[in-house]
Amino acid sequence: MPSNKEVGIVVLLKLRLEAQPGFPDLDWHCGDVQVRRSSEDPEVEVFPCHKWIRTADGNVELRNAKKVMCLKKKETLAILTNHRERDLPTKTTVYQVKPFLLINGPHCVDMSSVTALGPNFSYIRQRYPVNNVHYIKSFIERRTSWSSLQELETFFLFNGRENTIAKYVQAHWQEDAFFGYQCLNGCNPLCIRQIHNLPPNLSVTSEMVRPFLPEDSSLEQEMEGRHVYLLDYEVLDQLPANTVNDKQTYLAAPLCLLHYSRQGELKPIAIQVKILNRFLLILFWLHWLLAKMWVRNSDFQVHQLLSHFLRTHLIGEVCCTAALRQLPEIHPLHQVETKFSSKNHAVLTLTTRLLLFSCGESSPEGQGVPQSFQTAAEMCKFVTMVIFSCSALHAAVNFSQVCSVINKLTEVPAAMSRPPSQTKGSVSEEDIFSFLPEVNSSCHVLSVLSLLSQPAIDFVPLCSGATVKLVEEVWRELKMIAKDIADRNSQLELPYTYLSPDHIENSVTI
Ligand SMILES: *[C@@H]1O[C@H](CO)[C@@H](O)[C@H](O)[C@H]1NC(C)=O
Ligand SMILES: *[C@@H]1O[C@H](CO)[C@@H](O)[C@H](O)[C@H]1NC(C)=O
Ligand SMILES: *[C@@H]1O[C@H](CO)[C@@H](O)[C@H](O)[C@H]1NC(C)=O
Ligand SMILES: *[C@@H]1O[C@H](CO)[C@@H](O)[C@H](O)[C@H]1NC(C)=O
Ligand SMILES: [Fe+2]
Repeated sequence: MPSNKEVGIVVLLKLRLEAQPGFPDLDWHCGDVQVRRSSEDPEVEVFPCHKWIRTADGNVELRNAKKVMCLKKKETLAILTNHRERDLPTKTTVYQVKPFLLINGPHCVDMSSVTALGPNFSYIRQRYPVNNVHYIKSFIERRTSWSSLQELETFFLFNGRENTIAKYVQAHWQEDAFFGYQCLNGCNPLCIRQIHNLPPNLSVTSEMVRPFLPEDSSLEQEMEGRHVYLLDYEVLDQLPANTVNDKQTYLAAPLCLLHYSRQGELKPIAIQVKILNRFLLILFWLHWLLAKMWVRNSDFQVHQLLSHFLRTHLIGEVCCTAALRQLPEIHPLHQVETKFSSKNHAVLTLTTRLLLFSCGESSPEGQGVPQSFQTAAEMCKFVTMVIFSCSALHAAVNFSQVCSVINKLTEVPAAMSRPPSQTKGSVSEEDIFSFLPEVNSSCHVLSVLSLLSQPAIDFVPLCSGATVKLVEEVWRELKMIAKDIADRNSQLELPYTYLSPDHIENSVTI
Protein backbone atom coordinates (compact mmCIF):
# COMPACT_ATOMS: atom_id res chain seq x y z
CA MET A 1 0.00 0.00 0.00
CA PRO A 2 1.58 3.32 -0.97
CA SER A 3 1.98 6.05 1.65
CA ASN A 4 3.04 9.64 1.14
CA LYS A 5 4.05 10.23 4.71
CA GLU A 6 7.56 9.53 5.94
CA VAL A 7 7.08 6.78 8.53
CA GLY A 8 10.64 6.41 9.79
CA ILE A 9 11.85 3.01 10.93
CA VAL A 10 9.05 0.47 11.04
CA VAL A 11 9.25 -1.61 14.21
CA LEU A 12 5.67 -2.77 14.54
CA LEU A 13 3.15 -3.35 11.81
CA LYS A 14 -0.60 -3.67 12.18
CA LEU A 15 -2.52 -5.94 9.93
CA ARG A 16 -6.30 -6.22 9.74
CA LEU A 17 -8.63 -8.44 7.80
CA GLU A 18 -11.82 -6.64 6.81
CA ALA A 19 -15.02 -8.23 5.64
CA GLN A 20 -16.14 -6.89 2.27
CA PRO A 21 -19.70 -7.02 1.07
CA GLY A 22 -20.10 -9.67 -1.61
CA PHE A 23 -17.12 -11.72 -0.37
CA PRO A 24 -17.37 -14.67 2.00
CA ASP A 25 -15.96 -13.94 5.45
CA LEU A 26 -13.10 -16.44 5.36
CA ASP A 27 -9.96 -16.70 7.48
CA TRP A 28 -6.78 -15.88 5.65
CA HIS A 29 -3.36 -17.37 6.16
CA CYS A 30 -0.66 -14.73 6.22
CA GLY A 31 2.97 -15.72 5.67
CA ASP A 32 5.40 -12.79 5.68
CA VAL A 33 4.53 -9.16 5.22
CA GLN A 34 7.17 -7.34 3.16
CA VAL A 35 7.75 -3.62 3.41
CA ARG A 36 9.78 -1.39 1.03
CA ARG A 37 10.47 2.33 1.04
CA SER A 38 9.40 2.53 -2.59
CA SER A 39 8.67 0.05 -5.32
CA GLU A 40 12.21 0.56 -6.70
CA ASP A 41 13.96 0.01 -3.39
CA PRO A 42 15.62 -3.44 -3.42
CA GLU A 43 15.77 -3.51 0.37
CA VAL A 44 12.89 -5.37 1.98
CA GLU A 45 11.89 -5.39 5.62
CA VAL A 46 10.19 -8.64 6.56
CA PHE A 47 7.45 -8.99 9.19
CA PRO A 48 6.74 -12.68 9.74
CA CYS A 49 3.23 -13.71 10.66
CA HIS A 50 2.55 -17.36 9.69
CA LYS A 51 -0.89 -17.24 11.25
CA TRP A 52 -4.50 -17.54 10.26
CA ILE A 53 -6.15 -14.17 10.60
CA ARG A 54 -9.87 -13.59 11.10
CA THR A 55 -11.95 -10.48 10.60
CA ALA A 56 -12.91 -10.67 14.28
CA ASP A 57 -9.26 -10.28 15.35
CA GLY A 58 -9.06 -6.56 14.67
CA ASN A 59 -5.45 -5.42 14.44
CA VAL A 60 -2.79 -8.11 14.49
CA GLU A 61 0.60 -6.70 15.38
CA LEU A 62 3.74 -7.99 13.73
CA ARG A 63 7.35 -7.36 14.63
CA ASN A 64 10.25 -6.90 12.29
CA ALA A 65 11.97 -10.21 11.45
CA LYS A 66 15.21 -8.83 12.87
CA LYS A 67 13.53 -8.61 16.24
CA VAL A 68 11.23 -11.63 16.46
CA MET A 69 13.26 -13.02 19.32
CA CYS A 70 14.08 -10.90 22.30
CA LEU A 71 14.33 -11.07 26.08
CA LYS A 72 12.41 -8.51 28.10
CA LYS A 73 15.51 -6.88 29.52
CA LYS A 74 16.85 -6.38 25.99
CA GLU A 75 13.82 -4.45 24.73
CA THR A 76 14.86 -0.90 23.88
CA LEU A 77 11.63 0.74 22.72
CA ALA A 78 8.61 1.45 24.89
CA ILE A 79 6.28 0.60 21.99
CA LEU A 80 7.77 -2.90 21.82
CA THR A 81 7.74 -3.45 25.58
CA ASN A 82 4.04 -2.57 25.50
CA HIS A 83 3.41 -4.94 22.64
CA ARG A 84 5.14 -7.66 24.56
CA GLU A 85 2.94 -7.11 27.58
CA ARG A 86 -0.26 -7.07 25.54
CA ASP A 87 0.69 -10.44 24.10
CA LEU A 88 0.12 -12.47 27.27
CA PRO A 89 -3.03 -12.11 29.33
CA THR A 90 -5.36 -14.15 27.10
CA LYS A 91 -3.04 -17.08 26.77
CA THR A 92 -3.36 -18.65 30.19
CA THR A 93 -7.08 -18.98 29.55
CA VAL A 94 -6.74 -20.34 26.01
CA TYR A 95 -4.15 -22.97 26.83
CA GLN A 96 -5.20 -24.85 29.94
CA VAL A 97 -3.53 -27.95 31.29
CA LYS A 98 -5.02 -30.98 32.97
CA PRO A 99 -3.64 -34.15 34.54
CA PHE A 100 -3.02 -36.78 31.87
CA LEU A 101 -4.33 -39.74 33.87
CA LEU A 102 -3.76 -39.11 37.54
CA ILE A 103 -4.09 -35.89 39.53
CA ASN A 104 -0.48 -35.93 40.68
CA GLY A 105 0.88 -37.45 37.49
CA PRO A 106 2.11 -35.61 34.42
CA HIS A 107 -0.14 -33.04 32.77
CA CYS A 108 -1.13 -32.44 29.20
CA VAL A 109 -2.95 -29.73 27.30
CA ASP A 110 -6.64 -29.58 28.17
CA MET A 111 -8.17 -30.02 24.76
CA SER A 112 -10.39 -32.77 23.52
CA SER A 113 -9.18 -32.82 19.93
CA VAL A 114 -6.59 -31.45 17.57
CA THR A 115 -9.17 -29.10 16.06
CA ALA A 116 -9.51 -27.35 19.44
CA LEU A 117 -5.92 -26.19 19.03
CA GLY A 118 -7.10 -24.02 16.16
CA PRO A 119 -5.48 -23.65 12.75
CA ASN A 120 -2.53 -21.60 14.05
CA PHE A 121 -1.23 -24.63 15.95
CA SER A 122 -2.28 -27.63 13.91
CA TYR A 123 -1.12 -29.12 10.71
CA ILE A 124 -1.70 -32.30 8.80
CA ARG A 125 1.18 -34.63 8.54
CA GLN A 126 1.68 -36.05 5.10
CA ARG A 127 2.93 -39.58 4.77
CA TYR A 128 3.84 -41.81 1.92
CA PRO A 129 1.22 -44.49 1.29
CA VAL A 130 1.71 -47.90 2.90
CA ASN A 131 2.20 -50.68 0.40
CA ASN A 132 1.61 -53.91 2.31
CA VAL A 133 -1.51 -52.91 4.18
CA HIS A 134 -3.82 -54.94 1.93
CA TYR A 135 -1.94 -58.10 2.63
CA ILE A 136 -2.17 -57.48 6.37
CA LYS A 137 -5.85 -56.58 6.12
CA SER A 138 -6.62 -59.95 4.56
CA PHE A 139 -5.80 -61.51 7.94
CA ILE A 140 -7.93 -59.17 9.97
CA GLU A 141 -10.97 -61.43 9.76
CA ARG A 142 -9.22 -64.36 11.41
CA ARG A 143 -10.00 -64.71 15.05
CA THR A 144 -7.92 -67.79 15.74
CA SER A 145 -4.37 -68.12 16.97
CA TRP A 146 -1.49 -68.41 14.55
CA SER A 147 -1.22 -72.08 13.63
CA SER A 148 2.52 -72.58 13.25
CA LEU A 149 5.93 -71.03 12.99
CA GLN A 150 5.75 -71.92 9.31
CA GLU A 151 2.69 -69.74 8.89
CA LEU A 152 4.40 -66.83 10.57
CA GLU A 153 7.50 -67.20 8.45
CA THR A 154 5.32 -66.98 5.34
CA PHE A 155 3.66 -63.90 6.76
CA PHE A 156 7.07 -62.35 7.44
CA LEU A 157 8.13 -63.11 3.92
CA PHE A 158 5.21 -61.26 2.38
CA ASN A 159 5.72 -58.30 4.65
CA GLY A 160 9.40 -57.85 4.48
CA ARG A 161 10.43 -58.94 1.00
CA GLU A 162 12.26 -55.74 0.14
CA ASN A 163 13.41 -54.94 3.60
CA THR A 164 16.84 -56.19 4.63
CA ILE A 165 16.15 -55.51 8.29
CA ALA A 166 12.98 -57.59 8.16
CA LYS A 167 14.88 -60.42 6.51
CA TYR A 168 17.52 -60.28 9.19
CA VAL A 169 14.89 -60.34 11.91
CA GLN A 170 13.14 -63.28 10.30
CA ALA A 171 16.35 -65.27 10.31
CA HIS A 172 17.50 -64.34 13.80
CA TRP A 173 14.52 -63.52 15.99
CA GLN A 174 14.87 -66.63 18.14
CA GLU A 175 18.56 -66.10 18.87
CA ASP A 176 19.80 -64.93 22.25
CA ALA A 177 22.35 -62.59 20.72
CA PHE A 178 19.61 -60.82 18.77
CA PHE A 179 17.62 -60.43 21.98
CA GLY A 180 20.66 -58.82 23.60
CA TYR A 181 21.31 -56.69 20.53
CA GLN A 182 17.84 -55.21 20.80
CA CYS A 183 18.39 -54.09 24.40
CA LEU A 184 20.80 -51.51 23.03
CA ASN A 185 19.92 -51.12 19.37
CA GLY A 186 16.20 -51.69 19.41
CA CYS A 187 13.52 -49.15 20.01
CA ASN A 188 13.92 -49.01 23.78
CA PRO A 189 17.58 -48.69 24.74
CA LEU A 190 16.67 -47.10 28.09
CA CYS A 191 15.94 -50.13 30.26
CA ILE A 192 19.22 -51.99 30.43
CA ARG A 193 21.68 -51.28 33.22
CA GLN A 194 24.91 -52.73 34.52
CA ILE A 195 24.70 -54.41 37.93
CA HIS A 196 27.27 -55.32 40.55
CA ASN A 197 24.86 -57.12 42.91
CA LEU A 198 21.88 -59.28 42.18
CA PRO A 199 18.61 -57.47 42.89
CA PRO A 200 16.86 -58.93 45.97
CA ASN A 201 13.78 -59.93 43.99
CA LEU A 202 15.64 -62.06 41.51
CA SER A 203 15.75 -65.66 42.70
CA VAL A 204 18.74 -66.71 40.65
CA THR A 205 21.79 -68.32 42.15
CA SER A 206 25.29 -68.30 40.83
CA GLU A 207 24.98 -72.08 40.31
CA MET A 208 21.99 -71.74 38.01
CA VAL A 209 23.77 -69.55 35.51
CA ARG A 210 27.20 -71.18 35.67
CA PRO A 211 26.69 -73.02 32.35
CA PHE A 212 26.31 -69.69 30.56
CA LEU A 213 29.47 -68.11 31.94
CA PRO A 214 33.11 -68.66 31.01
CA GLU A 215 34.38 -71.89 32.63
CA ASP A 216 36.97 -70.20 34.79
CA SER A 217 34.57 -67.57 36.08
CA SER A 218 31.58 -67.09 38.37
CA LEU A 219 28.59 -64.77 38.45
CA GLU A 220 30.26 -62.71 41.20
CA GLN A 221 33.44 -62.35 39.18
CA GLU A 222 31.51 -61.43 36.07
CA MET A 223 29.55 -58.78 37.97
CA GLU A 224 32.76 -57.39 39.35
CA GLY A 225 34.23 -57.31 35.84
CA ARG A 226 31.19 -55.26 34.65
CA HIS A 227 29.90 -57.95 32.34
CA VAL A 228 26.49 -58.46 33.91
CA TYR A 229 23.41 -56.44 33.02
CA LEU A 230 19.80 -56.33 34.10
CA LEU A 231 16.52 -55.54 32.41
CA ASP A 232 14.06 -54.61 35.10
CA TYR A 233 10.35 -54.23 34.40
CA GLU A 234 9.18 -54.08 37.99
CA VAL A 235 7.47 -50.81 37.16
CA LEU A 236 4.78 -52.97 35.55
CA ASP A 237 4.21 -54.99 38.71
CA GLN A 238 0.52 -55.21 39.70
CA LEU A 239 -0.67 -53.17 36.75
CA PRO A 240 -4.12 -54.20 35.58
CA ALA A 241 -4.07 -55.62 32.06
CA ASN A 242 -6.61 -54.90 29.37
CA THR A 243 -9.04 -57.11 27.54
CA VAL A 244 -8.51 -57.66 23.82
CA ASN A 245 -11.20 -59.29 21.66
CA ASP A 246 -13.23 -59.72 24.87
CA LYS A 247 -10.48 -61.78 26.43
CA GLN A 248 -8.34 -60.94 29.38
CA THR A 249 -4.68 -60.31 28.54
CA TYR A 250 -1.81 -60.59 30.98
CA LEU A 251 1.06 -58.40 32.05
CA ALA A 252 4.17 -59.59 33.80
CA ALA A 253 6.94 -57.79 35.65
CA PRO A 254 9.97 -59.73 34.49
CA LEU A 255 13.60 -59.43 35.47
CA CYS A 256 16.16 -60.52 32.93
CA LEU A 257 19.84 -61.06 33.61
CA LEU A 258 22.23 -60.62 30.70
CA HIS A 259 25.88 -61.40 30.24
CA TYR A 260 28.37 -59.67 27.95
CA SER A 261 30.51 -62.51 26.68
CA ARG A 262 34.18 -62.50 25.78
CA GLN A 263 33.06 -62.86 22.16
CA GLY A 264 31.44 -59.45 22.47
CA GLU A 265 27.87 -60.70 22.53
CA LEU A 266 25.23 -59.63 25.01
CA LYS A 267 22.96 -62.59 25.83
CA PRO A 268 20.19 -63.24 28.33
CA ILE A 269 21.19 -65.88 30.90
CA ALA A 270 18.23 -65.96 33.30
CA ILE A 271 14.69 -64.71 33.10
CA GLN A 272 12.26 -64.47 35.94
CA VAL A 273 8.65 -63.90 35.02
CA LYS A 274 6.44 -62.85 37.83
CA ILE A 275 2.74 -62.39 37.47
CA LEU A 276 0.12 -61.85 40.16
CA ASN A 277 2.53 -62.68 42.93
CA ARG A 278 3.64 -65.96 41.39
CA PHE A 279 7.26 -66.54 40.49
CA LEU A 280 8.40 -68.57 37.59
CA LEU A 281 11.80 -69.33 36.23
CA ILE A 282 11.84 -70.50 32.70
CA LEU A 283 14.99 -72.06 31.43
CA PHE A 284 14.17 -74.81 28.96
CA TRP A 285 14.38 -74.12 25.27
CA LEU A 286 10.78 -73.47 24.24
CA HIS A 287 10.15 -72.21 27.73
CA TRP A 288 13.12 -69.98 27.15
CA LEU A 289 11.69 -68.60 23.92
CA LEU A 290 8.46 -67.95 25.76
CA ALA A 291 10.29 -66.28 28.63
CA LYS A 292 12.01 -63.99 26.16
CA MET A 293 8.63 -63.15 24.68
CA TRP A 294 7.37 -62.17 28.12
CA VAL A 295 10.34 -59.89 28.57
CA ARG A 296 9.85 -58.34 25.14
CA ASN A 297 6.15 -57.91 25.82
CA SER A 298 6.95 -56.00 29.00
CA ASP A 299 9.51 -54.01 27.10
CA PHE A 300 6.83 -53.08 24.57
CA GLN A 301 4.64 -51.63 27.33
CA VAL A 302 7.49 -49.74 29.00
CA HIS A 303 8.71 -48.54 25.66
CA GLN A 304 5.39 -47.12 24.51
CA LEU A 305 4.26 -45.72 27.82
CA LEU A 306 7.40 -44.53 29.53
CA SER A 307 10.23 -44.21 27.03
CA HIS A 308 8.14 -42.96 24.18
CA PHE A 309 5.01 -41.30 25.46
CA LEU A 310 6.05 -39.96 28.85
CA ARG A 311 9.67 -39.09 28.22
CA THR A 312 9.27 -37.50 24.82
CA HIS A 313 5.66 -36.57 23.98
CA LEU A 314 4.41 -35.56 27.39
CA ILE A 315 7.58 -33.69 28.29
CA GLY A 316 7.35 -31.81 25.03
CA GLU A 317 3.69 -31.08 25.45
CA VAL A 318 3.98 -29.81 29.01
CA CYS A 319 6.88 -27.49 28.16
CA CYS A 320 5.17 -26.32 25.00
CA THR A 321 1.96 -25.51 26.85
CA ALA A 322 3.88 -23.75 29.61
CA ALA A 323 5.69 -21.61 27.05
CA LEU A 324 2.43 -20.73 25.30
CA ARG A 325 0.82 -19.79 28.60
CA GLN A 326 3.63 -17.91 30.24
CA LEU A 327 5.85 -16.35 27.61
CA PRO A 328 5.06 -13.76 24.97
CA GLU A 329 5.72 -14.99 21.43
CA ILE A 330 8.75 -12.79 21.21
CA HIS A 331 10.54 -14.77 23.92
CA PRO A 332 13.44 -16.82 22.50
CA LEU A 333 12.11 -20.01 24.08
CA HIS A 334 9.26 -19.95 21.60
CA GLN A 335 11.83 -20.83 18.97
CA VAL A 336 12.26 -24.11 20.81
CA GLU A 337 8.58 -24.61 21.45
CA THR A 338 7.50 -24.19 17.85
CA LYS A 339 9.96 -26.89 16.93
CA PHE A 340 8.64 -29.63 19.14
CA SER A 341 5.03 -29.01 20.04
CA SER A 342 3.16 -32.26 19.74
CA LYS A 343 0.40 -31.09 17.55
CA ASN A 344 -1.18 -34.41 16.94
CA HIS A 345 -2.30 -34.81 20.48
CA ALA A 346 -5.63 -36.46 19.86
CA VAL A 347 -4.31 -38.85 17.25
CA LEU A 348 -1.47 -39.57 19.53
CA THR A 349 -3.56 -40.35 22.58
CA LEU A 350 -5.69 -42.60 20.49
CA THR A 351 -2.83 -44.50 18.95
CA THR A 352 -0.98 -44.73 22.21
CA ARG A 353 -4.02 -46.23 23.92
CA LEU A 354 -4.39 -48.60 20.98
CA LEU A 355 -0.83 -49.71 21.12
CA LEU A 356 -0.97 -49.92 24.84
CA PHE A 357 -3.96 -52.09 25.07
CA SER A 358 -2.47 -54.16 27.83
CA CYS A 359 -1.49 -51.24 29.94
CA GLY A 360 -4.77 -50.06 31.35
CA GLU A 361 -4.83 -47.17 33.77
CA SER A 362 -1.19 -47.23 34.61
CA SER A 363 0.62 -44.48 36.41
CA PRO A 364 3.57 -43.06 34.51
CA GLU A 365 5.77 -41.55 37.14
CA GLY A 366 7.03 -38.06 36.38
CA GLN A 367 10.71 -38.03 37.15
CA GLY A 368 13.31 -35.37 37.37
CA VAL A 369 11.29 -32.33 36.34
CA PRO A 370 12.31 -29.51 38.70
CA GLN A 371 9.67 -27.38 40.42
CA SER A 372 11.54 -24.17 39.68
CA PHE A 373 14.82 -22.88 38.30
CA GLN A 374 17.21 -20.81 40.39
CA THR A 375 19.90 -20.02 37.83
CA ALA A 376 20.22 -19.51 34.09
CA ALA A 377 22.52 -22.53 33.99
CA GLU A 378 19.81 -24.78 35.49
CA MET A 379 17.32 -23.47 32.99
CA CYS A 380 19.77 -24.04 30.17
CA LYS A 381 20.34 -27.62 31.22
CA PHE A 382 16.62 -28.28 31.37
CA VAL A 383 15.93 -26.74 27.97
CA THR A 384 18.77 -28.79 26.51
CA MET A 385 17.21 -31.90 28.02
CA VAL A 386 13.85 -31.00 26.49
CA ILE A 387 15.37 -30.40 23.06
CA PHE A 388 17.21 -33.71 23.32
CA SER A 389 14.07 -35.57 24.43
CA CYS A 390 11.92 -34.19 21.66
CA SER A 391 14.46 -34.74 18.91
CA ALA A 392 17.16 -37.38 19.44
CA LEU A 393 15.50 -39.42 22.17
CA HIS A 394 12.24 -39.42 20.29
CA ALA A 395 14.01 -40.56 17.14
CA ALA A 396 15.64 -43.41 19.06
CA VAL A 397 12.45 -44.66 20.67
CA ASN A 398 10.06 -43.76 17.87
CA PHE A 399 8.94 -46.86 16.06
CA SER A 400 12.20 -48.14 14.78
CA GLN A 401 11.75 -50.79 12.18
CA VAL A 402 13.65 -53.53 13.94
CA CYS A 403 11.38 -53.43 16.91
CA SER A 404 8.07 -52.85 15.33
CA VAL A 405 6.72 -53.81 12.00
CA ILE A 406 7.93 -57.32 11.53
CA ASN A 407 8.80 -58.91 14.79
CA LYS A 408 5.92 -57.31 16.63
CA LEU A 409 4.01 -60.51 15.99
CA THR A 410 6.06 -62.98 17.90
CA GLU A 411 9.23 -61.74 19.33
CA VAL A 412 7.58 -58.61 20.73
CA PRO A 413 3.96 -59.53 21.28
CA ALA A 414 1.83 -56.48 22.03
CA ALA A 415 -0.36 -58.48 24.40
CA MET A 416 -0.10 -61.86 26.05
CA SER A 417 -3.30 -63.85 26.06
CA ARG A 418 -2.41 -66.36 28.80
CA PRO A 419 -0.68 -66.09 32.14
CA PRO A 420 2.66 -67.89 32.30
CA SER A 421 2.11 -71.49 33.34
CA GLN A 422 4.06 -73.20 36.04
CA THR A 423 4.33 -76.50 34.25
CA LYS A 424 7.79 -77.93 34.05
CA GLY A 425 9.05 -79.79 31.05
CA SER A 426 8.78 -78.82 27.45
CA VAL A 427 6.27 -76.51 25.86
CA SER A 428 5.00 -77.30 22.40
CA GLU A 429 5.02 -74.91 19.46
CA GLU A 430 1.24 -74.85 19.71
CA ASP A 431 1.53 -73.79 23.34
CA ILE A 432 3.69 -70.87 22.31
CA PHE A 433 1.05 -69.63 19.94
CA SER A 434 -1.65 -69.84 22.57
CA PHE A 435 0.17 -67.02 24.37
CA LEU A 436 0.18 -64.73 21.39
CA PRO A 437 -2.63 -62.40 20.38
CA GLU A 438 -5.09 -63.78 17.88
CA VAL A 439 -4.37 -63.29 14.20
CA ASN A 440 -6.77 -60.40 13.74
CA SER A 441 -5.65 -58.36 16.72
CA SER A 442 -1.97 -58.81 15.98
CA CYS A 443 -2.61 -57.78 12.38
CA HIS A 444 -4.51 -54.80 13.63
CA VAL A 445 -1.53 -53.61 15.68
CA LEU A 446 0.67 -54.33 12.73
CA SER A 447 -1.34 -52.26 10.28
CA VAL A 448 -1.45 -49.33 12.73
CA LEU A 449 2.30 -49.58 13.19
CA SER A 450 2.84 -49.80 9.44
CA LEU A 451 0.85 -46.63 8.97
CA LEU A 452 2.70 -44.83 11.72
CA SER A 453 6.06 -45.90 10.50
CA GLN A 454 5.66 -44.58 6.98
CA PRO A 455 8.18 -41.83 6.42
CA ALA A 456 6.74 -38.32 6.45
CA ILE A 457 6.79 -36.35 3.21
CA ASP A 458 7.36 -33.14 5.13
CA PHE A 459 10.26 -34.42 7.23
CA VAL A 460 12.25 -31.57 8.82
CA PRO A 461 15.69 -32.61 10.10
CA LEU A 462 17.03 -31.35 13.42
CA CYS A 463 18.36 -27.77 13.31
CA SER A 464 17.70 -27.36 9.59
CA GLY A 465 16.60 -24.00 8.21
CA ALA A 466 18.37 -22.29 11.09
CA THR A 467 18.44 -18.52 11.01
CA VAL A 468 20.46 -18.04 14.15
CA LYS A 469 24.21 -18.21 13.87
CA LEU A 470 24.70 -20.45 16.87
CA VAL A 471 22.22 -22.99 15.53
CA GLU A 472 23.96 -22.90 12.14
CA GLU A 473 27.17 -23.95 13.86
CA VAL A 474 25.41 -26.84 15.59
CA TRP A 475 23.93 -27.81 12.20
CA ARG A 476 27.41 -27.99 10.64
CA GLU A 477 28.60 -30.16 13.53
CA LEU A 478 25.60 -32.43 13.16
CA LYS A 479 26.39 -32.94 9.48
CA MET A 480 29.85 -34.18 10.39
CA ILE A 481 28.41 -36.56 12.98
CA ALA A 482 25.97 -37.87 10.37
CA LYS A 483 28.85 -38.59 8.05
CA ASP A 484 30.76 -40.53 10.74
CA ILE A 485 27.66 -42.55 11.52
CA ALA A 486 27.06 -43.30 7.83
CA ASP A 487 30.65 -44.54 7.50
CA ARG A 488 30.28 -46.79 10.50
CA ASN A 489 26.91 -48.10 9.36
CA SER A 490 28.27 -49.03 5.95
CA GLN A 491 30.37 -51.69 7.72
CA LEU A 492 27.44 -53.20 9.61
CA GLU A 493 25.07 -55.97 8.63
CA LEU A 494 22.33 -54.27 10.65
CA PRO A 495 22.97 -50.54 10.47
CA TYR A 496 21.79 -48.30 13.33
CA THR A 497 20.46 -45.15 11.71
CA TYR A 498 17.96 -43.79 14.22
CA LEU A 499 20.38 -41.45 15.96
CA SER A 500 22.02 -40.13 12.84
CA PRO A 501 21.28 -36.38 12.84
CA ASP A 502 19.89 -36.48 9.30
CA HIS A 503 17.29 -39.01 10.51
CA ILE A 504 16.41 -37.05 13.64
CA GLU A 505 13.39 -34.91 13.16
CA ASN A 506 13.18 -31.37 14.46
CA SER A 507 10.10 -32.16 16.49
CA VAL A 508 7.96 -34.79 18.09
CA THR A 509 5.18 -35.28 15.62
CA ILE A 510 3.86 -38.76 16.10
C1 LIG B 1 -3.98 -16.93 14.92
O1 LIG B 1 -3.07 -16.03 15.53
C2 LIG B 1 -3.38 -14.66 15.30
C3 LIG B 1 -2.23 -13.83 15.80
O2 LIG B 1 -1.92 -14.12 17.12
C4 LIG B 1 -4.69 -14.32 15.99
O3 LIG B 1 -5.02 -12.99 15.83
C5 LIG B 1 -5.76 -15.20 15.37
O4 LIG B 1 -6.99 -14.99 16.04
C6 LIG B 1 -5.39 -16.67 15.45
N1 LIG B 1 -6.31 -17.39 14.63
C7 LIG B 1 -7.16 -18.27 15.13
C8 LIG B 1 -8.07 -18.90 14.15
O5 LIG B 1 -7.15 -18.57 16.30
C1 LIG C 1 10.45 -56.43 44.56
O1 LIG C 1 10.67 -56.23 45.92
C2 LIG C 1 10.08 -55.09 46.49
C3 LIG C 1 10.47 -55.03 47.94
O2 LIG C 1 11.73 -55.55 48.14
C4 LIG C 1 8.57 -55.16 46.32
O3 LIG C 1 7.99 -53.98 46.81
C5 LIG C 1 8.24 -55.32 44.86
O4 LIG C 1 6.84 -55.46 44.68
C6 LIG C 1 8.93 -56.52 44.28
N1 LIG C 1 8.66 -56.59 42.88
C7 LIG C 1 8.40 -57.72 42.25
C8 LIG C 1 8.13 -57.63 40.80
O5 LIG C 1 8.40 -58.77 42.82
C1 LIG D 1 -11.27 -59.62 15.66
O1 LIG D 1 -12.40 -60.28 15.15
C2 LIG D 1 -13.54 -60.26 15.99
C3 LIG D 1 -14.63 -61.08 15.33
O2 LIG D 1 -14.62 -60.95 13.95
C4 LIG D 1 -13.97 -58.82 16.24
O3 LIG D 1 -15.06 -58.81 17.14
C5 LIG D 1 -12.81 -58.06 16.85
O4 LIG D 1 -13.18 -56.70 17.03
C6 LIG D 1 -11.60 -58.16 15.96
N1 LIG D 1 -10.50 -57.50 16.62
C7 LIG D 1 -9.71 -56.62 16.03
C8 LIG D 1 -8.65 -56.02 16.88
O5 LIG D 1 -9.83 -56.32 14.86
C1 LIG E 1 8.93 -42.00 13.58
O1 LIG E 1 9.25 -43.15 12.84
C2 LIG E 1 8.78 -43.22 11.51
C3 LIG E 1 9.46 -44.38 10.82
O2 LIG E 1 9.59 -45.49 11.60
C4 LIG E 1 9.10 -41.99 10.71
O3 LIG E 1 8.34 -42.00 9.53
C5 LIG E 1 8.74 -40.75 11.47
O4 LIG E 1 9.18 -39.63 10.75
C6 LIG E 1 9.43 -40.78 12.82
N1 LIG E 1 9.16 -39.56 13.55
C7 LIG E 1 10.13 -38.83 14.07
C8 LIG E 1 9.69 -37.60 14.78
O5 LIG E 1 11.29 -39.15 14.03
FE1 LIG F 1 6.24 -40.47 18.87
